[in-house]
Amino acid sequence: MKKPLIVANWKRYIEERDVALAAAKAIARGVGKINTTIVICPPALYIDAIAKAFSSKGVAVGAQAVSSVAGAMQTGELSAAMLADLGASYVIVGHSERRARGEDGEAIRAGVEAVLAEKMSPILCIGETARDASGEHYDVLTSQLREALPKLSPADAKRLVIAYEPVWAIGKSAAEAMDARALEETVIYIRKVLAERIGRTAALAVPILYGGSVEPDNAAQLIGAGVSGFLVGHASVEPKSLLAIAKASNGASKHH
Ligand code: PGA
Repeated sequence: MKKPLIVANWKRYIEERDVALAAAKAIARGVGKINTTIVICPPALYIDAIAKAFSSKGVAVGAQAVSSVAGAMQTGELSAAMLADLGASYVIVGHSERRARGEDGEAIRAGVEAVLAEKMSPILCIGETARDASGEHYDVLTSQLREALPKLSPADAKRLVIAYEPVWAIGKSAAEAMDARALEETVIYIRKVLAERIGRTAALAVPILYGGSVEPDNAAQLIGAGVSGFLVGHASVEPKSLLAIAKASNGASKHH
């Protein structure tokens, strides 16, 4: 069984370099005792310092977003090459908070391609805004996957990570996260669509994470739903709760 993959999406919760470094240090200190891969995705400003200080200590570093446009005349944009140069090895692409502000399928696909071209792992976020009895949310997931996935070489497919984040479950509390049974069905569905797109063998190896109000209280139950790990927002900012989630995920994961 592969180690669970726990991605800490700090969003903009931390706005000071010292606070970011202290949190990363506490995480690096704790991760050694847990058989888990932890990826810290701080604001891009802090990637460099965190990667330099802690990537040899079992922590990987990722970015929260990447520019989807090419060229030098792009004021304020951070390219995949810049993020790789800072020490990022993962990049979150297509997070719902960015989709809500206009990032569309085409931009997300360009982001995935840019990240792969730099030999980093894209963490592609998909997720419906609401669920209904007729199951239309499955169509949303299918089109998000089809839109965002370019043609992948076998080496690219090995780098791909999918994060399933139902938008209605983000930023709430453990009690409002998705229930494990519905999650298990959704993960099976996502893998089926992936298999159509990249082939069955490659699809079976892609880690599928769950995100949306993962907290220490629900991590053990959710990991039993066939996910390979979690994309954690608010609970990832406090090192103790992130480490508790990592610990709870360990040993119980069915896939990987
Ligand atoms: P949350 O955020 O854990 O605070 O729900 C998850 C995410 O948006 O990635």
